[in-house]
Parts: sequence; structure tokens; C-alpha cells
Amino acid sequence: MKLGITYNVKKETELEESLEKVNKRNTEARKYLDENIIEKYSERIDDTFAEWDSIETIEAIKNAFEKAGHEIILIEADENAFETLRLTKPQIVFNVAEGKGGASRESQLPAILEMLDIPYTGSDPVSIGICHDKSRCKEILSYYNIPNSKFFISDNDEVNHNLSYPLFVKPLHEGSSKGIYNSSVVHNPDELKKEIKRIKECYDQPSLVEEYLDGKEFTVALLGNGNDLKVLPIVEINLDEVPNGFNKIYSYEVKWFFDTRENKLDIFKCPAEIDSELYKKIEETCKDTFNVLRLKDWARMDVRLDKNGIPNIIEINPLPGILPDPEDNSCFPKAAREAGMNYDECLNAVLNSAIKRYDLI
Ligand SMILES: Nc1ncnc2c1ncn2[C@@H]1O[C@H](COP(=O)(O)OP(=O)(O)OP(=O)(O)O)[C@@H](O)[C@H]1O
Ligand SMILES: [Mg+2]
Repeated sequence: MKLGITYNVKKETELEESLEKVNKRNTEARKYLDENIIEKYSERIDDTFAEWDSIETIEAIKNAFEKAGHEIILIEADENAFETLRLTKPQIVFNVAEGKGGASRESQLPAILEMLDIPYTGSDPVSIGICHDKSRCKEILSYYNIPNSKFFISDNDEVNHNLSYPLFVKPLHEGSSKGIYNSSVVHNPDELKKEIKRIKECYDQPSLVEEYLDGKEFTVALLGNGNDLKVLPIVEINLDEVPNGFNKIYSYEVKWFFDTRENKLDIFKCPAEIDSELYKKIEETCKDTFNVLRLKDWARMDVRLDKNGIPNIIEINPLPGILPDPEDNSCFPKAAREAGMNYDECLNAVLNSAIKRYDLI
């Protein structure tokens, strides 16, 4: 098929354009980081493009589809994307674009594709937008009685609430653990206000404040639609690997500083070593979540057990990360490998779900 791939790629030039903003954010972030970390990981503190893909990932995606016999058109998801799509008119698009900016950024490409009547992989602009606003998403889950921790949102000092400490504070609409540091776990109103202020200053957005879930953590990849919806082998996040003295969370420090190619943490267990009852419960909760949010083709969700051992949904990624190198920490391809699919087969399975959904064969 004539297949478009829409994406955003990490770039140095964009960084220069917004240098002032980036510098301000980095300065703020440093105030909340441990001295040793600042010294050791100085060059990795900037998180501006943490969500965007590297050129190696885009090449690997292209390669996977070329090998399957598709004719590829690469389309960077910038201001020219609409015109390129209008002129080239792919039969279908494999969309991994995170979008240019703003809370609804991941909806931008799906909305353009709908306007141009071009089929595409993944969820529609409404569902993607909802997942990207973590509070809107939780409201829907709560309506359908899908467990998720109690929460409120705030961007100021008014923090009257009836939640129980410890609380967890994170940006309302970021991914890749942006803005989630060791200091995100708070134990009193002063710490809480400080974190809300940091997120407002660094990310110019409200905080989602939640009750802290202190149980085991998992990430769950789903593939397909309707009766074909499959849960891939569940990945457990081995939080015992978080260095001593740090909270047991999968924070920005853990993801981007502590766990590196040179110094790998044994952070994932796949499939998760848990009893079959809990395994089934997690699968069921994730499938229900996929369906009530009307997600399409694929998604990856983070789940954590509450104090009663009940799986709670932390957040949903309707555009999961897909780093090609098995040495890198990318849980969707990892779960697919455990299910017997290599990288290329995994991506083609996502595309084929969309092809089937649009009835293109
Ligand atoms: N309510 C909570 N209770 C306990 N830990 C939490 C809670 N919310 C988030 N966390 C921890 O923080 C981590 C990052 O949070 P979250 O998944 O919401 O961020 P993200 O940036 O969207 O992640 P991703 O990289 O998966 O896009 C989680 O993996 C988990 O370890
Ligand atoms: Mg997450």
C-alpha cells in the first residue's frame, strides 16, 4: 500500500528557537534535584523533546514497512504536514506524531487526517486528546467504575482537599515522566504547594494531585480492536531497582539518568511474575479501559496496585513509545517480543489492525 508515516523527530534547531523558555525550565528543575544528580547528569536534564522520536526510530519504522512491501512516504508532523498529506494522499498513515505543542498536541495529526479523509493507525483525536489530559481521562474511568486514585487539579496555593497523604503531584498533560522527579511524592501541604508551583513554573500547566499508590507497578500493551483486542504479556516495573534513598516511582531520574545503556537497571520483568488471578484482573481492567475510552489499534497503559492490592490505572499512552533496540526501554516492543513478534511484526500488526478496521482489504 501507499503508506504515509507521520512523526516528530528530535531536533537541535527547534531547541535554539525556544532557548529562553528551555533555560528557565532547566533552572527551575535543578532547584528540585539532588546535588549529585545535577553534577552527574547535567546534560540530560533538558526534557524538551523527551517525547519525540529519534531519527533511528523513524528509520526503523520505515524499514519495517518497506520490508512488508509498502511504498513509504515520510511526513514530518510540522506546519507543512497538511499540504504534504493533501498532495501525496497516502492510502493509510502510520501515525506516531506527538504534535507541535499544547495539551491537545497528539490530536493534531489525527484531526488533519480525518479532515483529509485519510485512514490512519491509532485512536481518533477525541480519545487521544482525552488521554493526554490525565484528569479528563480519570473522570471517564471513574464514571465506568474503573479504579484510579482519587485526585484534584490545582495551579495555585489553594489546596483544600480530602485526600490522604502521601500524595503524588505531576503535570496534567505530559509524558515520558517529564516533570516527575523524586520530589513528586509529597507528605504535607508545604511540599505539595512547592511541587504545584514547580510544575506551573516549568511546564505552565496545572498539577494533577493524586493519592499515592504504593503497590507493584505494571505496564500493559494492548493490540487490536473489538473481539480481536489482545493484551500482550504484562511487564512488571521492578521498582526494587530504584536506588536507595529515592522514592519507588518510575521518575524522570530513573528513566533518563539512572537507567542507561552503559549502566542498565534490571527494571523490567516480562511476563510479570504474579498469580493468575491478579494477572487476569489487570488484563480485564486494561481491556475495559481500552473500550470505554474507545481507543483504536494499540495502546500502552500504566497500572499500579493500591493498598488493597487492586489494580488502578495510572495513565494511558495511545501512542506508545517504540524504540527499536531491544536494549532500550520500550515496553510495547518488549511485550510484543515476549508474545513472539519481532519489531517489524509488531509494527505491521498495528498497521494491519487499522487496515482491517477500515475494511481496506
Ligand atoms: N498516583 C500515583 N501513585 C504512585 N506512583 C505514581 C502515581 N502516578 C504516577 N506514579 C509514578 O510515576 C511514574 C510516571 O507517571 P506517569 O506514568 O503518569 O507519567 P508519564 O510521563 O505519562 O509516563 P510515560 O513515560 O509512561 O508516558 C509512574 O510510572 C509511577 O511510577
Ligand atoms: Mg507512564
